[in-house]
Amino acid sequence: MKFQSQKIAYWFFASAMALLVLQIVYGFIMGFARIGMDGLHEWIPFNTARATHTNLLVFWLLLGFMGSAYFIIPEESDRELMWPKLAWAQLISFLVVGVAAIIGYHFNWWEGRKFLEIPRPLDYLVVVNVLAFIANIGATIWFGKRYTTTSIVLYFGLLTAALLYLPGMIFFENQTLDSFYRWWVVHLWVEGVWELIMGALLCYLLIKLTGVDREIIEKWLYVVVGFTFLSGILGTGHHYYYIGAPKYWLMVGGIFSALEPLAFLGMAMYGIAMARKGGRKHSNRLALVWTLGTCIMSFVGPGFLGFAHTLPQVNLYTHGTLVTAMHGHMAFWGAYAMLVFAVITYALPMLTGRKLWNNTTGYLAFWTANIGFTGMTGALAVAGISQVYLERKAGLDFLMVQREIEVHFVGMLLAAGLFTFGILLFIYNFIRFGLPSDEALIPADLEGEAELEHLERRTV
Ligand code: HEM
Ligand code: HEM
Ligand SMILES: [Fe+2]
Repeated sequence: MKFQSQKIAYWFFASAMALLVLQIVYGFIMGFARIGMDGLHEWIPFNTARATHTNLLVFWLLLGFMGSAYFIIPEESDRELMWPKLAWAQLISFLVVGVAAIIGYHFNWWEGRKFLEIPRPLDYLVVVNVLAFIANIGATIWFGKRYTTTSIVLYFGLLTAALLYLPGMIFFENQTLDSFYRWWVVHLWVEGVWELIMGALLCYLLIKLTGVDREIIEKWLYVVVGFTFLSGILGTGHHYYYIGAPKYWLMVGGIFSALEPLAFLGMAMYGIAMARKGGRKHSNRLALVWTLGTCIMSFVGPGFLGFAHTLPQVNLYTHGTLVTAMHGHMAFWGAYAMLVFAVITYALPMLTGRKLWNNTTGYLAFWTANIGFTGMTGALAVAGISQVYLERKAGLDFLMVQREIEVHFVGMLLAAGLFTFGILLFIYNFIRFGLPSDEALIPADLEGEAELEHLERRTV
């Protein structure tokens, strides 16, 4: 770490971890409700728990992205953050708005639009907050000593993510129109502009961790970004099949969304190729494990499992079932949650100056979290496929089917236990690193040497 102001990233990451724990708590509330243990129903009914679970997910991921940007942009631009105090104000106000929204959900103050449940008045506060963030990062890049492709793509991803929030704030009486524009936020985020953020963060990590030339890694970034735009924008059509939008969306959505996995496949191939090509062995192997894990799982969750239900002929039967929840879980985990974990794993030793790399707890966290989450996805898949056959092929009653598939949630909860164990280990490790310190400040050009020196000592 070269700059004092990068330290703010630590607090974004710490807040993200706290909200992740809360998200998991709400996951368990729903999981138990699904097997009939719904004792909290009076206070936290399933729909409240669901909105809280998914909104907390989006909150902590955004905190993770912001923290990553505050860590990376000063270094890429070779200057302190433009307004460090503003970054603090922005963190605190973001948490206040987030927590206010979550509390509001428990008093039925929310809008019934999946993922965009935040009431409109709070939306305006989110906008102001994000504007402050975009301005801070933008000014740092603008007045920085150098521009890199990585920082420009990262900035463009963050900026467009902020702009795309706006169509979700327009009010429509008409259900079809409301749905139509809701996807401009939800779909164009995760299958469009967030992929830019992801491409840029992976680029940064791979440059640092593999030692492959920046030029080579950044060139690939253009290719991935190109694929993303080509397929993701018109791929929005896979949400317009049977909602009252014109029929041509069946064709457009089907074809373009079927191409989307290619962007993720490109990302996976590119990550693995760079890691194999890289001559340099960075001391922080665990960060590389999380980085490559992200590259691979982001093909599995969004790409492979997305393709599984994206053709209109299939989606006709699977729409809105647990097949969707199966894909939603692995897609968010594999692409974006793991990405934030990768950046945190890379940044923590830099931020705190403590070189606790490659410890056993860290590896155990990686494997148990991933095996647990894969198990959860598998259980949801079996539940989802059974639901589709029983309810939509055999024509059984909705609630009767939900009862039939209850058993799969026992399996899901067991796997969720393993996953949670992994997450808690990760957080235990996070805490062990201690707080950010000034000892961690090293001129960037010495940083690489310090790491290599450490490696030599370790291998002797
Ligand atoms: C990282 C990227 C992705 C994430 C985080 C993600 C996440 C999600 C989530 C949470 C939903 C449920 C949304 C809702 O009902 O409000 C969803 C729906 C859907 N996703 Fe993805 N997804 C990603 C990429 C993809 C890709 C690449 C494809 C296609 C190849 C795809 C295909 C679909 C389809 C067809 C639906 C609609 C399901 C339905 O009709 O109920 N997704 N996705
Ligand atoms: C212990 C861990 C977890 C448990 C037990 C759990 C459980 C659940 C349950 C029961 C639902 C509702 C499904 C339904 O409608 O019936 C749900 C929704 C969802 N969860 Fe989790 N979850 C957990 C962790 C996570 C994590 C870590 C992520 C993301 C990385 C995540 C992402 C989602 C998403 C995106 C949805 C909405 C899916 C959709 O739109 O269909 N969950 N979760
Ligand atoms: Fe989509």
